[in-house]
Amino acid sequence: MYLQRRNRILRQSPAIRSLVAETVLTPNDFIAPIFIDEGENVKTEIASMPNYFRCSLDLTVKEVKELWSMGIKSVLLFVKADDETKDNKGTEAINPNGLMQRSIRAIKDAVPEMVVMTDVALDPYSSFGHDGIVEGGEIVNDATVEVLAQMSVSHAEAGADIVAPSDMMDGRIAAIRQALEQSNFTKTGIMAYSAKYASCFYGPFRDALDSAPGFGDKKTYQMDYANRQEAIKETIMDVEEGADIVMVKPALSYLDIIREVKNAVDVPVSCYNISGEYAMIKAAAKMGWIDEEKAIIETLTSMKRAGADLIATYFAKDAVRLLNH
Ligand code: PBG
Repeated sequence: MYLQRRNRILRQSPAIRSLVAETVLTPNDFIAPIFIDEGENVKTEIASMPNYFRCSLDLTVKEVKELWSMGIKSVLLFVKADDETKDNKGTEAINPNGLMQRSIRAIKDAVPEMVVMTDVALDPYSSFGHDGIVEGGEIVNDATVEVLAQMSVSHAEAGADIVAPSDMMDGRIAAIRQALEQSNFTKTGIMAYSAKYASCFYGPFRDALDSAPGFGDKKTYQMDYANRQEAIKETIMDVEEGADIVMVKPALSYLDIIREVKNAVDVPVSCYNISGEYAMIKAAAKMGWIDEEKAIIETLTSMKRAGADLIATYFAKDAVRLLNH
């Protein structure tokens, strides 16, 4: 058989495949999410996230040192607020001595070069488990945005490098940018969860922080997974409002959105390889149905190939270990 072109030539050995690989993961791609608890020497495995833990600050600081030593350069902080501190105003979210603010200070003290990103949304602090203030069964936009702006300034005061609003209220990026500028935090970045979909795959995360919505769902603020065009609208608006990095979330069922967003904006694009995506791989691997290590690298590579410059993932440490051997 005569063939002018034989595509298998470039696939015939590991060496040649690596020479022509279009996508290569590195530790610089990853953001490691961290769950923080009150107390000392506390390390609780999250039931629906095997081998992922919520730790007190003392252990968290050790963990962050280890992440840095492995080459991971960014952490995304989430805290589990005590039930007594929860209300419908986000009071604890802006407490200068709240767990988040103390955590930022301790981590920046211990590993000053680590890029510390912080979750900005009210759900961990809300008696309703919603990302905003609730009035008459509704999640009200403008009052919530005011608190999110104060919360962002409070994180910046504590030393956060990048605030990451995950709430999906309208106008919050502009409000946060303005608040940071007014308080002279001209070096604090904003990573906007721009296209965040109302997804069933957040379940394990809500276990981790005990933050499941007490009533209803999040569909009046998070996006409908039927929509693609809307993701472009959201991300372009966030860039115009001052976002330094935009995010698509979840990742695996939204690779098309990652690519479209990457083509539409001129800022770095991140994606969030969320808790349910972690849980699915862990569960299938436990059953012996898939190879966990291969599934981790293949899924993370697919996100980068889709266009993600940064990937927030619970597999950050595993991936770096796998890349190193
Ligand atoms: C809430 C928030 C959620 C996640 C990050 N921030 C869940 C939600 O919107 O209910 C999910 C992350 C994950 O599932 O890994 N502000």
